[in-house]
Amino acid sequence: MPLLSYIHAALRRRMGFSGVALTHLPPPFFSAVFLLFFSPMAVLSGPVSVSSISPNFTASYYSFIDSSGAFLSSPDTTFQARISSINSDSKSFYFVVVHVPSNAVIWSANRNSPISQSSELRFSNYGLALYDDSGSPPPVWSTPENISAAASLRLLESGNLALLDSANVSLWQSFDHPTDVIVPGQNLTVGKPLISSSTDSNFSEGNYRLVLSDDDAMLQWKGMTYWKMSMDPRAFRHTAAATVEYMMMNTSGVYLMGKNGINHLDAIVIISIEFNDSSGDDSMSFRTIKLDHNGAVDIVKTSAKYASNVREFTSPVDSCRTPYICGSLGVCSNGGYCRCALSFHPGTSNSECVPAEGSNLAMEGSCNSSIMSSINYLSLREDLDYVLNDFVDPTMVNANLSTCQRSCSTNCSCMGVFYVRNSGSCYFVTDSFGSLVIKSSSTSDGSRMGYVKVVNNNVVSSEKLRKFPILVVALLLPLLAIVAVISVASLIWFRRAKTSKIDRGYASPLSFENGDELFDSIPGLPVAFDYNNLFTATKGFATKIGAGGFGSVYKGTLPDGTDVAVKKITCLGSQGKREFLSEIAAIGKVHHVNLVRLKGFCAENGQRLLVYEFMNRGSIDRTLFEGGDCVLGWDERFGIALGAARGLAYLHSGCEYTIIHCDIKPENILVDDKLHVKISDFGLSKLVGPDESGIFTTMRGTRGYLAPEWLTGASISDKTDVYSYGMMLFELVSGKKNSSLQHRSGSGDGPGGSNRAVYFPLLALEMHEEKRYVELVDRRLGGRVGVEGVEKVVRVALWCVQEEPRRRPSMANVVGMLEGGVAVAEPEVEGLNFLRFYGRRLAEAGGEEVAFYEQPESGFNRSYDSLSSYMSDGISGAR
Ligand SMILES: *[C@@H]1O[C@H](CO)[C@@H](O)[C@H](O)[C@H]1NC(C)=O
Ligand SMILES: *[C@@H]1O[C@H](CO)[C@@H](O)[C@H](O)[C@H]1NC(C)=O
Repeated sequence: MPLLSYIHAALRRRMGFSGVALTHLPPPFFSAVFLLFFSPMAVLSGPVSVSSISPNFTASYYSFIDSSGAFLSSPDTTFQARISSINSDSKSFYFVVVHVPSNAVIWSANRNSPISQSSELRFSNYGLALYDDSGSPPPVWSTPENISAAASLRLLESGNLALLDSANVSLWQSFDHPTDVIVPGQNLTVGKPLISSSTDSNFSEGNYRLVLSDDDAMLQWKGMTYWKMSMDPRAFRHTAAATVEYMMMNTSGVYLMGKNGINHLDAIVIISIEFNDSSGDDSMSFRTIKLDHNGAVDIVKTSAKYASNVREFTSPVDSCRTPYICGSLGVCSNGGYCRCALSFHPGTSNSECVPAEGSNLAMEGSCNSSIMSSINYLSLREDLDYVLNDFVDPTMVNANLSTCQRSCSTNCSCMGVFYVRNSGSCYFVTDSFGSLVIKSSSTSDGSRMGYVKVVNNNVVSSEKLRKFPILVVALLLPLLAIVAVISVASLIWFRRAKTSKIDRGYASPLSFENGDELFDSIPGLPVAFDYNNLFTATKGFATKIGAGGFGSVYKGTLPDGTDVAVKKITCLGSQGKREFLSEIAAIGKVHHVNLVRLKGFCAENGQRLLVYEFMNRGSIDRTLFEGGDCVLGWDERFGIALGAARGLAYLHSGCEYTIIHCDIKPENILVDDKLHVKISDFGLSKLVGPDESGIFTTMRGTRGYLAPEWLTGASISDKTDVYSYGMMLFELVSGKKNSSLQHRSGSGDGPGGSNRAVYFPLLALEMHEEKRYVELVDRRLGGRVGVEGVEKVVRVALWCVQEEPRRRPSMANVVGMLEGGVAVAEPEVEGLNFLRFYGRRLAEAGGEEVAFYEQPESGFNRSYDSLSSYMSDGISGAR
C-alpha cells in the first residue's frame, strides 16, 4: 500500500495532473491506470544515493527524472553522477560526472556515442556498462572486461568515480580516463590526453589535444603541435633534467611533475604556472583545467559562493595562435577577428576561405598526373604567417622556391608551402590548411612567405561541382530573406519590450525606505558610515577635490588617519534604497589593483555617499591637459594606458558579471605618487536612472567619449567602453582634448602655421596613413618618446574607435596588444570614415561651437561642449 500511494503521488507529479477531480480517487485506481498504460517504463524515480552504490543497480535518465538524471552524489554533494543531456532540449544523453555548483561536466563515459533517455546504465560485479535502447549487448560503453568482483561504485568528494572491490581496492576510476577537463587531485598522465569537444554544444571528440611529451605539455591540432606549456609567459621551468610523468593542479598553480632518474622517490616540479591570486575566498572556489573547443587551455574558476564561472587564465594568450580559430585560410587579427586572406573569399561552409574565381584549393589525395599541369600557387601577403611552422623543422632546406613548390605538387597531402628566401627553408602544409596570423614585424628576407596550392577550375571541377554553390545560394536566398524579416521583427519587439520594462521599473516615485534591517538582508555590503562622521571627516565637505558625472568629491580623513575620497551622489536615479544597496554591495566586491577600492557608503535620510580610497595625485585630466611644470612623461602615459586597460578588462571579464563602465575618460582615471593607476566610478552608471534628459533617456557617459551606438540606439556593450578608452588613448598621446584649437604648422594644405580647429582622432588617422606617428605626440615631451611605442598606441586607439562595435578589440586584447603579446594588425580605415566626417565639419565651422542640437541639461558632465554636441548630431545624422 505505501508503494501504491507512492506511485499515485509520482504519477500525478509526472503527468502534471493538477486535479481536484483526481485527488479523491483511490490510489489503487491510479496504479491500475499506471500498470495499464505505462508498465513498460520504469516510472518510479529513485532517490539519489549518497557516496556509494552496490551492484545489481540500473539507472536511466528516465528512471531518475526527478533528480535530472542524478543517481549518485559525493558525500558533500559537490559532485553528482548523472545520466543527462548537455543541452536541455537535446535528445542525446550521456553518463557524466558533474560539479554541481558550477554545473560543469568534468567527466563523461560516452561522449562519442550518446544514448536515449530510457537507455540504461547497469552496475554489476562485472563493472559498469551502458546500453543503447535495445538493451542488448554489446554495450555502448563499459569498464574493462577483466573486472569480476566489483563490490561498490563510489563517487568521492574529489569528483573521482571509482569502482572498488570488497576490500575497497580500486579496480577502475574515472580520473584515469579524462575527457576534456582535469580537476584538482586528478593527474593527467602520458598517453592519456585531454581531447576537446567538437563544438560548444557537441560533446564528441574534436580536433585538439593536450598531450604530455618527455619534457613539456603540448597542444596539438590534428597531431600538429601549436603550443608548449614552457612557452607561456607565466611558465617557469625548474629543471631540464627530468622526464615528465603527469600534470596536476592545486590551489597554487598548475604543475608538470616528473622524475629525474637518480632519486626515484618523489616526483619533482619540472614546469609550473602559478596563480597570482591565491588569496581571498579560495577555500570556496574550485578550479578546472579545460581544453576548450577552440583549442585553448582555460583555467576556469568557479566560486561556489556566487555560483559563477570565470575564465582565469587562457593559453595561448593570443587566441590567434590556435590553429583553426578563423577556419581554413582565414586571417586572425586582434585576438579573434577573422577575415579571408587577400584573393580568397568565404566558401560555402562558414569555416573556410576559398580562392577567388577560376581555381579551387587542391584537395587532399587529388594529385593524379592529369591535374599536375594545372597546379598553381597563390601567394599570400608577406605579412601573413602560419603558427604551426614554428613547431616543426622545414621539410626541405637549401631549396629554391620552385623546387619547394614542385615537390609539394607531387605530394598528395601537401596543401601549400611556406618558404624562407634567405635560408632556402621549405615548409609543407599537410592535410589541411588552418588559419593565418599577422606577423608582428615584417622583416623582409628572413620571414616565411606562404603559397597556397590550387588547381585550375576547368580541370578539377565537373559540371556538377561548379553548379553546387549556385544551387546552394539559390536555395539559401529565400531562407535568408525570411531570417532577416524575423530578426528585424524580433529586434523591434525586443526594443519595445525593453523600453517598456525600463519605464515600468522606474515608474515608482523616489522612495527611501527607512529601517536598517535592509543592511542585514543584503550580503557583502561594505562598511556603512554614519553621516555625521563623514561630515566631521570632511570638515563639513570643505575640500572639494573633484566633480564627476555623479556628484562632487571631497577629501576626508578618518579618525584613524587614513585619507579617503567621499563622493556625494547628487544625480540619483529614482531607485529605492534596496537597489542602491545592492549596487553598492556589487561594487564593493570588485577588487583589482587598477580599480579604486570602495571602502564604504552612507545611505541616510536621502543622502547617498560613497567612501573611496584616496589617490593623492587625483585624476589625470589636470596633469595631462594643464600639466604646468610636471608634464607626464611618455612612459608614465603608457603606464596609465596599460593600467586603465587592465582595470577595464577586469571589469569586463574578470568579475562575476560584466560591468560596463559607461564613462571612461581622463577625469575617471586616478593616480597616486607611486603612479598606481586606478579607474574610478565603475558600477555607478547603474545608479543613475534614465532621468529627465529628454530624448537621450538611456544615455550615460560623457559626450566626446560616447560611442556611436549611444546615439543610434544600438545595444550598449563592453565595446562601448572600448570606444571611450580609444578616445582617451588619443588624448594621452596628444596631451590635449581631442576637440580643441591646435596649432598646426602648414604642411601642404595651409600656408605657414595657424591656429585651426583640429579633430585629433582624424589627425591621428591621417598621420597613421602617412606613417608620421611622432608628429602626433605632445610637443611638451620634446621628442622624448619611443617611435614604436607611439605607433603601437595610435594603432590600438584606431582599432578601439572603429564605428562598428564588433570590430573593436576586447579590452583583454587591448592589454595583450599594449603588452606586446598580441600583434597589432593594420587598423581598418573603412571603419573610421566617420572621423573624416566630423573633422571636416568641424574645420568648416572654424572650431566654433556648432549647436545643431540643443541637448537638455542633465546631471552629466558637460566638459565636452564645443565639438561633442556637434558630434552627437553628426553621429545620428550620419545614419
Ligand atoms: C570500505 O569503505 C567503507 C566506507 O568508507 C567502509 O564502511 C568499509 O568498512 C570499508 N571496507 C573495508 C573492507 O575496509
Ligand atoms: C601545489 O603543488 C606543488 C607541487 O607539488 C607544491 O610545490 C605546492 O606547495 C602545492 N601547493 C599547495 C597549496 O598545496
